[in-house]
Amino acid sequence: VSMKTLTVNLKDNSYNILIDSDILDEIVRYLNTNYNDRKIAIITDANVEALYAKDFKELIEKNGFEAKIIKIKPGEESKTLDTLQEVYKDLSEFRLTRKDLIVALGGGVVGDLAGFAASTYLRGVDYIQIPTSLLAQVDSSIGGKVAVDLPFGKNLVGNFYHPKAVFIDTNVLKTLDNRFLHDGLAEVIKYGFIKDKSIIHELMSCKNDDELLLNIEGIIFKCCSIKKSVVESDEKDFGERMLLNFGHTLGHAIEKYFDYKKYTHGEAVAIGMAEITKKSEKLSITQEGTYELLVEVLKKYSLPYKSPEMKRDEVLGAIVLDKKSSGKEISLIILDKMGDAVIRKVPVDEIENYI
Ligand SMILES: NC(=O)c1ccc[n+]([C@@H]2O[C@H](COP(=O)([O-])OP(=O)(O)OC[C@H]3O[C@@H](n4cnc5c(N)ncnc54)[C@H](O)[C@@H]3O)[C@@H](O)[C@H]2O)c1
Ligand SMILES: [Zn+2]
Repeated sequence: VSMKTLTVNLKDNSYNILIDSDILDEIVRYLNTNYNDRKIAIITDANVEALYAKDFKELIEKNGFEAKIIKIKPGEESKTLDTLQEVYKDLSEFRLTRKDLIVALGGGVVGDLAGFAASTYLRGVDYIQIPTSLLAQVDSSIGGKVAVDLPFGKNLVGNFYHPKAVFIDTNVLKTLDNRFLHDGLAEVIKYGFIKDKSIIHELMSCKNDDELLLNIEGIIFKCCSIKKSVVESDEKDFGERMLLNFGHTLGHAIEKYFDYKKYTHGEAVAIGMAEITKKSEKLSITQEGTYELLVEVLKKYSLPYKSPEMKRDEVLGAIVLDKKSSGKEISLIILDKMGDAVIRKVPVDEIENYI
């Protein structure tokens, strides 16, 4: 087999990322070694419960662990303080202690919520990530950002709290809905354009989604390597980690403009990446032809690239209010060329030139 391992080096908070097409044995071995005799709370959502969590619970029970499934409703609507409160209640009924373990088994919603629960319950309990959506496998499970939403904004209550390990099983992507697969691919394309053009060459050489899934392990490894090194050099997101926001300034504004209903995160980011690159290429900041390459790969994976009709003032307002802006300047991520990006600090009143 071809198991791939990465280590996120963060002194006391270092952890391994394991990537393989069938990783259950490895997880059991890890649990036996590190959490022998401990209780395990598996936080998951209803979709992933039916597909994977029930079997996973049985497997670890066979190995002598006392386990409980804590299930939330699928989707972003569950990333709330109300759900969190229910999760705390279940953890406490299970009598989970600070020596026990929480497993986040699901997509980014489960990962963010379970991670935040782990960071706060009893002032902090160990947790591991077993991400099951492509987005969670290449992005949200790594880096320790955990959060829930508030009624007036996304991810407004959160923490930096790293998992003890991340186990990425690429097999589970076979059951992922097409729209969510492409949603995650937008972030994969982002990694390619900001740091590693070989990812884009690979995406372009796959004939279809099936062929993509056959090659996904190597692609995920490349994405995780980028996220790992960016997180290592800028854990708290004040510098280099901002490169990961390529396409996200306009993307967030689009998501918000349509009340998080019309576009998935990945679709909005796809438009954000294309629109800013179209503009920066016209301004001769970006190498000619880059926009065309970007559009080609976005189209290939059924992602949008054209901004919908929106009221200009409202969009600009949303951009300025985005939490990534600091005072009078906004950090925009702009491509040099495919595989290279820079952070450009732009005064708020010049932002119009880039959108
Ligand atoms: N912490 C971070 O650094 C970070 C980074 C990016 C995004 N996020 C967060 O991630 C969240 C989005 O994550 P997401 O796109 O994974 O959404 P999600 O968790 O809602 O998962 C998408 C859907 O796919 C289903 N699903 C997951 N795995 C499956 C599988 N293997 N088979 C079948 N169905 C499966 C889920 O039940 C859900 O319906 C957002 O809340 C976002 O804020 C966090
Ligand atoms: Zn994103």
